[in-house]
Amino acid sequence: MDIKQSILEMFENNPNTFLSGESIANKLYVSRNAVWKAVKELKARGYDITAVTNKGYCMNSNSGILSGQGINKYTHTTYPNIFVHKIIDSTNTAAKNLAEKGAPEWTVIISEEQTSGKGRVNRPFYSPKGTGLYMSIILRPKFAAEKAVFITAAAAVAVARATEYVSEKKAMIKWVNDIYCNSKKVCGILTQGAVNMETGAFDYAVLGIGINVFRPDGGFPPEIENIAGYVLENKNVFPDAANRIAAEILNLFSEYYKDIEHKTFVDEYRARSFITRKHIYVIKPGITLPAEALEIDDNCGLKVRYNDGSIETLSSGEVSTKITENQVYDK
Ligand code: BTN
Repeated sequence: MDIKQSILEMFENNPNTFLSGESIANKLYVSRNAVWKAVKELKARGYDITAVTNKGYCMNSNSGILSGQGINKYTHTTYPNIFVHKIIDSTNTAAKNLAEKGAPEWTVIISEEQTSGKGRVNRPFYSPKGTGLYMSIILRPKFAAEKAVFITAAAAVAVARATEYVSEKKAMIKWVNDIYCNSKKVCGILTQGAVNMETGAFDYAVLGIGINVFRPDGGFPPEIENIAGYVLENKNVFPDAANRIAAEILNLFSEYYKDIEHKTFVDEYRARSFITRKHIYVIKPGITLPAEALEIDDNCGLKVRYNDGSIETLSSGEVSTKITENQVYDK
């Protein structure tokens, strides 16, 4: 196991307690210098660790309130319009309302809980209190609305990197908008917008990101417990994780977005795709078709080969790696 991960586990088992550098080093069979370096890296990632001479290191477990200030602490530029709610129906709905009223680009709405979180294809998004990050960003894209998939794909790469920043788990992408860790979905992305019908340009777009940062208190509801996962095991170890992840998403996504038509994120999107070369099911209205996922093209489209040999490039839609009972399966 990685030394940083081992140190985190020790802190997890000893919250708010000083552990000497020597005792950590002896337990892990590494040098005190290696411990010092690992702690330094953890602190740079945002872990709230105090180091005191002759006492050692202590992980503080009392910070972690989602706030604009808490996020801006880690961002490369200050975001003046971050609004954090305790509870809201849906941050995407709130962001759309604000966008309609003229709110500027990079207005960010966050909530600790959503009572009516929206997923794709009208599905609900489970958004319990205090363990997730539910965030919507207002954008005013200059490019045509048909390129909306670039927003989602760039955000997927940003989320994958941001989660890896705080956790040792590898983050993979399931086309087009889901992030998985250890084969469980930890994040979904929903990009919505309003389009000027005459020009085909966006009036605005809302990028909605929902992340299960920690395991919900009491676990996930039965209907999603086999598919849903979370980024971090223990809230005590990294209470500020949601602020840190939100900041890292803003840092990364804003870079991709600046130059979105050059698609600097596509190679990484492709590399993180875990369905490429796999058997999948393409879910269309009323029908589910078995296929092989061939590749993700430069426009983030998914090229698939159906069982009859025909090939299609999907520019949006849904695929699954499993077939469920209520899907109509076409032989
Ligand atoms: C999906 O998995 O189908 C997409 C889920 C998107 C959920 C996020 S949470 C923040 C924002 N507000 C919403 O109501 N939905 C998005």
